[in-house]
Parts: sequence; structure tokens; C-alpha cells
Amino acid sequence: MTLKVLQFGATGQVGQALTAAASDAIELTVLSRAEVDLADPAAIHAAILAADCDLIWNAAAFTMVDTAEAEPEAAFAVNAAAPEAMAQACAERGIAFVHLSTDSVFDGETDRPYVETDAAEPISVYGRSKLAGEQAVLARPKTTVLRVSWVFSPYGRNYVSFMLNLGRTREVLKVVADQYGSPTDGEALAGFMVARAARWASSEPADPAFGLFHFANAGETSRYDFAKAAIARDPLTHARLEPTTQGAFAEAAARPPRSPLDSSKLAATFGFMPQSWKPAVERVADQLVRNGF
Ligand SMILES: NC(=O)c1ccc[n+]([C@@H]2O[C@H](COP(=O)([O-])OP(=O)(O)OC[C@H]3O[C@@H](n4cnc5c(N)ncnc54)[C@H](OP(=O)(O)O)[C@@H]3O)[C@@H](O)[C@H]2O)c1
Repeated sequence: MTLKVLQFGATGQVGQALTAAASDAIELTVLSRAEVDLADPAAIHAAILAADCDLIWNAAAFTMVDTAEAEPEAAFAVNAAAPEAMAQACAERGIAFVHLSTDSVFDGETDRPYVETDAAEPISVYGRSKLAGEQAVLARPKTTVLRVSWVFSPYGRNYVSFMLNLGRTREVLKVVADQYGSPTDGEALAGFMVARAARWASSEPADPAFGLFHFANAGETSRYDFAKAAIARDPLTHARLEPTTQGAFAEAAARPPRSPLDSSKLAATFGFMPQSWKPAVERVADQLVRNGF
């Protein structure tokens, strides 16, 4: 019998990667904003109660980090109240729920990659709204939160395609060299979620497959070296990369200066460890270059 999964978020980067990965493995129903607006918790609740599915995952979020500073209510509605409504409705139905969160729940003052038990102290509205969302979700049974960071893929708006574009249009490309993190391969994330869907759907609440996990590619890099690894794959790039600082950009939201994620718990629980970030970035950059971005 094919597993039935309901997905919130159609158009985003991870949403598209999940849809592509699902193919024949699972029967996926995707709800776009036009079908269910995440600002409307009653609509979320009704959609889940009406759904015939074995598992629900949420790929939608208010991801405009700078806009969130001026629109905290909108950010909290989509990033906290909406996943809470999803987890609540799932609990009423006994359905497992998988939600995505972010390294932005951390303040970035660390000398080692973050583990799940480290204190989350967000420094932006986006980070606070995502932390409130993961706490509300994890308070319900049969819920999993995967914290990801610096997601890249062949889909949607993301850092690799953004940098490849700039590489063709700029002479000099100034990239932040004092912000560090672990890029996350969106295709690996989607493949992992599809491959573990049956386990989540069939597990009892006490199963270790539920809970909080970090999911990022192995290793740590700066934004500068991340961009360099992508642009180096494009034979038609014009740009000369120059390192700059985060402080040189006047952005509304503060970013954690160092927020790599340690994915050891994921590896121990699921037997899955994402590969090193650089070959994954090179694979996606090659694919984007082949397809003209
Ligand atoms: N991208 C990253 O680098 C990164 C890093 C850390 C964590 N994450 C987390 O990973 C997850 C997926 O992110 P992503 O990169 O795929 O985001 P994305 O590309 O920005 O996509 C966001 C999705 O959310 C939908 N959405 C936003 N507001 C909505 C609303 N009110 N009602 C219904 N849908 C709404 C968008 O739909 P529309 O197209 O209609 O707006 C879009 O499909 C999120 O939980 C995010 O916090 C991402």
C-alpha cells in the first residue's frame, strides 16, 4: 500500500525538492498558499482533519528574515501559530508530523558546531518565531523537527543560484567572509524525508525517530568559501570574489556569526549522515550551470 503524505508549501525551495523526491515512492498531496493560507490556523486545522493521509510535513515558512523585523506578527503567525495548529490537528488524528526549523534559533556565539541540547537564543524576529514554532510542535506527540541551515538545491531562490547569477553579471562580487555555517543539501534533505516517511508514519510516540534533529552537510564554511565553491564551477563567470564583512551590509535582521549544525544525533538515530558540503555544492552548481541556472 502506498504511503500517503500531506505537504504544506508548494513553491518554496524545500517544497519543490520534496515534490521531486517523492515521485513513485509515496503518494504526495501538496497544499499551496492558495489552498491553505498559513496565516489562518482554522483553515490548517480543517485541512488536516479532512485529509486522508499517514504523515504530514511542513515545508512552508515566513523566510524573509529582514522583512520579519518589521512584520513580527506575520512571521509569528506563519512560523509559530501555523505549525502549532498543524501539530495539534495531527495529535487529534494520531498522525505523525515533520516540521523544519533553522540554525537561526542560535545566537552564533559558539566555538563548535551546535548540538540539539545547546541553548537556543535567537537574535532576530525570524529566529524567535521559528523557535516558538519548534517548541509548540515538539510539545505534541509524534512530532519531528529537523533544523537545517543555508539550504541550497536546484530549486527556487537559494544561495548557489543567486551567486551563480551574480557571477555572470558583476565584475567584483563582495561576499561575507566572517559568517560561518553548514550548508544543507536540499535534495539530500528531501531524499531523507521521503525515505524515512514510512518509519515516522508507523512509529509509536516513544520512538527515537521523533524529536529534535540537526540536518546539515558535514563540515563548516564561510559564506565566502560557499560562494567560491559554487562560482568556480561556472566557466562563464566574470566576477572576481572579494571578502567583506557582515557589518558592511545594512540588513534589518542580525545573523548568527557562527551557526554550524552537528548532525551526529541524526546519524546515530537514522543511520544517515549527509556528505561533506563542498562536493554537494559542486554537484548542484554543475547541474544549475548545465541548465542555464
Ligand atoms: N532556505 C534556507 O536557507 C533555510 C535555512 C534554514 C531553515 N530553513 C527552513 O526550511 C524550510 C523551507 O524553507 P525554504 O528555503 O524552502 O523556503 P522558501 O523557498 O522561502 O519557501 C517558503 C514557502 O512557504 C510558503 N509560504 C509562506 N507564507 C505562507 C503562507 N502564509 N501560507 C502558505 N504558504 C506560505 C511559500 O509560498 P508562496 O510561494 O506562496 O509565498 C513557499 O512555498 C522553512 O521552515 C525554513 O525556515 C530554510
